[in-house]
Amino acid sequence: MNHFELRDGVLYAEDVPLPYIAAEVGTPVYVYSRATLVRHARVFREALSGLNKPHIAFAVKSNPNLAVLKVLQKEGFGADVVSGGELVRALAADMAPQDIVFSGVGKTRAELVQGLEADIGQFNLESEEEGHELSAIAAAQGKVARCALRVNPDVDARTHEKISTGKAENKFGVPMSRAGEIYAALAALPGLDMRGIAVHIGSQLSSLEPLETAFEKVGALIAELRSAGLKVTHADLGGGLGVPYKADEVMPTPADYGAMVARVTKHWDVALSFEPGRVIAGNAGVLLTRVIRVKRSSNASPFVVVDAAMNDLARPAMYGAWHDIDAVVPNGARHIAHVVGPICETGDTFAMNREMDALQAGDLAVFRTAGAYGATMASSYNSRGFVPEVLVDGDRFAVVADRLPAADIMAAERVPDWL
Ligand code: LLP
Repeated sequence: MNHFELRDGVLYAEDVPLPYIAAEVGTPVYVYSRATLVRHARVFREALSGLNKPHIAFAVKSNPNLAVLKVLQKEGFGADVVSGGELVRALAADMAPQDIVFSGVGKTRAELVQGLEADIGQFNLESEEEGHELSAIAAAQGKVARCALRVNPDVDARTHEKISTGKAENKFGVPMSRAGEIYAALAALPGLDMRGIAVHIGSQLSSLEPLETAFEKVGALIAELRSAGLKVTHADLGGGLGVPYKADEVMPTPADYGAMVARVTKHWDVALSFEPGRVIAGNAGVLLTRVIRVKRSSNASPFVVVDAAMNDLARPAMYGAWHDIDAVVPNGARHIAHVVGPICETGDTFAMNREMDALQAGDLAVFRTAGAYGATMASSYNSRGFVPEVLVDGDRFAVVADRLPAADIMAAERVPDWL
């Protein structure tokens, strides 16, 4: 459910017609709906209502825009961050330090220090080596870092291979077979408060089964650790819930997920936390674009060349991902077309032989479900500027990230005087 709907033949974001935003801000532009973000946040929280005070940390990587983080902060969400930059953003959005969890396989020394200085809620350690480094830093500063150990349950999440994180060959977490030994070793170090286990097996999961298998392994590990006399008070179950990218796609609902979690974790006796990203932000955003021209091709389908490109929305080029593409003012006609951006490589293709609303030069269109892993993955490839972002709230909207023109990006470059 989202708030991008046709009204009298025009696509609106809440109560704002998208052509109005295109006229005011230009295209391409990401448009987010506050009401949709709030709704998703509440549905997710409600789905977990059977659990005892779950902690929800929004995966900042999915949409790090400050205004988006602020909307979620007001909904009581904390943050799952994976870099010093994301930590700064979470704090800037007034997320309480104790509600911030720091994940990531390659936290640098500077980032560990930054997390300690901010006194964040939890570090999710991805290796024994990282635990030793954090222990040394914390002990030297007379601090104690609250930590969970991320385990790799060797479960196939059955999603795209580039966003699977829980198979033995993936770089994430420590192997289950060594988790007990590593946890015990880290628990004995100064400066660390080892308090739990973290797991995250991948993103855009279309089935709950792999999650359930992974959580069962975590439950068994918790029991094993406790029987060895170790303290376990927390478990972080990560994110990963998939969203429908096609109108007719069926995904497990947050309620199904919550019921499964409640069943599997019933006897764990720990404080649970979650790191949802896509399920909160995905359908809360669209990428609004304008057709530059329609070019005949050597087969029956024309190339619809739009002003958004793979630098603005990388998912189709990176993962072959599908985004529904709809006209903003559909006239009822349909056609079969290729939809491409202006960038000089064939990977800059959003759709091939897609049956879709007919589009002509000058028409506006949207890529749906672009609120997660959209603007955050943008680049300036082909010296295109950074795409702006807009947040709609009822009948008002605000530009929440300026368009960054190519000239401003170039302004950060220097030609040395010896050239
Ligand atoms: N927690 C951790 C440790 C993660 O690595 C991720 C996502 C999440 C939580 C949030 O997962 P979500 O609930 O959003 O599925 N760029 C890719 C997705 C990469 C996901 C990376 N990790 C895409 O566009 O599909």
